[in-house]
This record gives sequence, structure tokens and C-alpha cells, in this order.
Amino acid sequence: MTTYAYSSESPADVKAGLLIVPVFQGPKPGPGVRETGLAKAYADAKLTGKKGESVLVTRRDRDRFAAGAVLLVGVGPRDEVTIEGMRRALGRAAGTARRFGSVATTFPQAFGARKGADAVQAAAEGLGLADYRFDRYRTKREDANGLKRVVILGNPKWEAKGLSAAVRRASIVVDAVCWARDLVNTPAGDMPPAEIAREAQRMARSVGLTCKVWNESQLEKGGFGGILGVGKGSVNPPRLIELTYTGAGNATPIALTGKGIAFDSGGLSIKDAKGMETMKDDMGGAASILGTMKAIARLKPKINVIAAIPCSENMPSGSAQKPGDVITHRGGKTSEVLNTDAEGRLVLADALALGQQREPQLIVDTATLTGACVVALGTGITGAFSNDDGLVRDLIAAGDATGEPIWQMPLHREYRPLIDSSVADIKNIGDRWGGAITAAWFLAEFVGDTPWCHLDIAGPAFNDRGTDLSPRGATGTPVRALVRFVLDRAAA
Ligand code: BES
Ligand code: MN
Ligand code: ZN
Repeated sequence: MTTYAYSSESPADVKAGLLIVPVFQGPKPGPGVRETGLAKAYADAKLTGKKGESVLVTRRDRDRFAAGAVLLVGVGPRDEVTIEGMRRALGRAAGTARRFGSVATTFPQAFGARKGADAVQAAAEGLGLADYRFDRYRTKREDANGLKRVVILGNPKWEAKGLSAAVRRASIVVDAVCWARDLVNTPAGDMPPAEIAREAQRMARSVGLTCKVWNESQLEKGGFGGILGVGKGSVNPPRLIELTYTGAGNATPIALTGKGIAFDSGGLSIKDAKGMETMKDDMGGAASILGTMKAIARLKPKINVIAAIPCSENMPSGSAQKPGDVITHRGGKTSEVLNTDAEGRLVLADALALGQQREPQLIVDTATLTGACVVALGTGITGAFSNDDGLVRDLIAAGDATGEPIWQMPLHREYRPLIDSSVADIKNIGDRWGGAITAAWFLAEFVGDTPWCHLDIAGPAFNDRGTDLSPRGATGTPVRALVRFVLDRAAA
């Protein structure tokens, strides 16, 4: 457990294990350098203030600062420093901070009062997100250190109330992202659909959300042929999780859904060994919606949000669905399953249809849906497909504000016939090319006229190398962007 606080005390007085202060290129002292008497130290260390440079100064008896040590971090030219750049710089510094156990930073003071709240939130997020470790399955913890306390030092002239709220927001977002990461990183053997549902119920109880879980026989009665068809080959039965957050009486809600494939073997259209290695992450969409709902429930914006999260396990067996099978989705539309590895769209179709029946103002879905989207955008960018320009614009803005890049992809009309079927309403694969787009067209069939945006997170949900803000494994994307989007809509 990490505690987070906002303070406007002098950087010289803060009693943290480590104090992180920026140095701009020039070099020019950033906020906190003069106060701690370290202007000479960075000159002596030949810092130029370039991005990537850093010097650690440990305290001696005569030093003017109370922290155990100060990390001077080069951040590049003063007028080029961005909030995202700061978030990442602090993410990189978090490794050092973990050794000291507690950390403070003056970094957000590099930004003006107008950006104060965003800067303060981003600073706390950068440190908190990069502090994440997944060591539940190690007999010896890799690195037993970790941040006990994070203090964000603001400009004393700034109004503290809004900034304390920004730090609190950061702590709630970090907790939600890290929980989503835990759900994804947990091996599929320990996280079948029923366990995802239990996690959702525990979370809902702890934060005061309404949670309803549909079991297999209820799904049958409800006509959820996609969720059931995909789950047929597994001994672990599917579930559908519904969450309700009420922050605005009987106002029309925002609806969210996320792909929850506990494990994607491909089914009878089986993947090869390499292709399966990271497929425990195929519930990354579901985890991101669970994390978002958890954060929303704690932040209590004045808006209503509902979520429907389909969870199935895609396995080959004697009972598995077969290529050529036709399934009937929630609401009655039929689809021909020509490739059982194109399963995400089948479960999402049911959830989108249910979502639409609830008559929301808009629907957003997140899914590790297609390898094609990873080919197009790489592992750093989420692809967005939408029938509503205002909605996709707001999601992209929320992504930009939170450091989770989202790029709009074309829902090209001429590709829609590629999913026409010769036996059913539609089929679940298109041509060889444009696979992310035909997948999106499949989903579009189930949202009617409701403003809708599909976020394909197949690339950024999981990273093999680790990023500035996350060790190797699940990233928790796009919890930060979605929370921001919902808060912005509530404030609008
Ligand atoms: N879960 C995969 C998509 C995926 C691939 C996510 C790589 C992350 C990394 C999805 O269910 C899938 O298998 N999609 C197929 C669709 C194809 C059969 C039309 C794909 O992308 O190859
Ligand atoms: Mn698949
Ligand atoms: Zn999948």
C-alpha cells in the first residue's frame, strides 16, 4: 500500500527518502534545485540537463535538505517539457525511488498554475504506475522494496484544494490500473471466467457498485449464443458481468464493454505455440473496463455508467464450436463462425447487443481484438473505430491527456460486404487484408444507431519489454484514458 499526498512545503524540508528535482537543458535549475542548495552539485557533476541524464546526491551532515537523497534529472529544454514527458521521466526514476521507500518531487512546478492539476496528477501517476510489480508467483520476491509514500510538492502560490484532489485522483487511477494489470498477469489457469466474475463481485462490494453475474443457464435463456459458442469447448463455463454506477439519478448512462477471453487458444482453428504464449492477456479489455468502473465508483462523478463484460475461454475439444457453425447472438442476429480464432467479436456482439438494449447515450468497447491492428499501429497505440466523430475525438483527447495514445482508424464502408455470409446474416472473418477493419464492421452490426467507439488494444494491452510506466506484462491500458473520458463527460 502506497500513500499519496500533496504538499506545498519547501523541497528543502520534505522528509522523503528521495527527492526528485528536474534540471532543464542549459543547464538551468528546475524547481527545487536552489532551495536544496544543489546548483553547484549539478554543475560539478557536469550535468547538461539533457533528457536521460541524472545524478544522485546523498545527504551529508552539512547539506541544506532533509531528504535522504536528491535525484537531479535532466529533462531537456525548458519550453519542450510536456506533462507526458514528466510522467515518463518520473516513471524511469521510480526504480531508484523504490530503493528509498518514499519519494517527493517538485516536478509539476515546471508547469504553470493552469496546468497544475494535470501536472500534479501525472507526476503521482508516473511514480505509482512504475512502482508496480507482479511477484505473486515468485517464492522469492525479485525486489522487496517499493514506494510506501509519494509526496507531490506544489507551488505554494497554487490553490491546494484542487491539487490535493488531483493527487487523490492519481492514487485511485493507479490502484485501478494496477488491479487491471493483476487480473491480466494472473495465469489463465487461475483466472477462468468464473474467477474474473468473482473478482468483479468483490470489487463491486468494496466500492459500492451494483453487480450482476449471468451464469451459463442464464446466458442460455438470454440468448447469448456468441458467449456460449466460444465457451463451449472449455471445461470453464462462461460468465457475463454487469456493473452499474449511478452518479446522476435516472440520466441516460454511458455504456462500456470489454473483451474477456480468459485464454485464447484459437479453439479448433488453433494457434501455434508462439501465438498462444501471451493469450492470458486476451481479457485485457475486460480488465480495463473493470478497472475503469472501480475508479469511477471511487471518484463519484455526476454521471451514470453501465458495463457488460463477456467472459469465455476459447479452447479446442470434442464439445468446441466448429468452423462453419452458425450461432444466434443476443437480439437474434446470426453469424457464421468460419474461424474459431476470431472469437472476440463473437462474445462482444452479445455484450454490445445487451448494452444497446439498455438504451445508453453511447457505447465504448475495448478489446485485444486483432493481430492486424498490431501490424498497423505497433504495440504503443490503440486503434479506434467509430460511427460518431465527436465520440472518437473525445476519446483521442482523453488518451492524449493521459499518455495513452489512440489513433482513429477508418471504418471503410466498402469493406462491410467482406463479412457477408452465404448462410447467415454475417460471417466472423473477412479477407486476408484489413482484418482490424472487418472485425470492427462485425461489431458495428450490434450497436444500431447508438454512438459507438471500438478500441482495439491488441498491441498496447501487453508489452514484452517493459515501458517507462510498466514492467514486462500487462499495461492496464486504457483505464487512464477511459476514466478521464468519463470524468470529462460528467463535467461537460
Ligand atoms: N486475441 C487475438 C488477437 C491478438 C493477436 C491479440 C495478437 C494480441 C496479440 C484474436 O482473438 C485473434 O486471434 N484474432 C485473429 C483473427 C483472425 C482469425 C481473423 C487474428 O488477429 O489473427
Ligand atoms: Mn482469437
Ligand atoms: Zn482473442
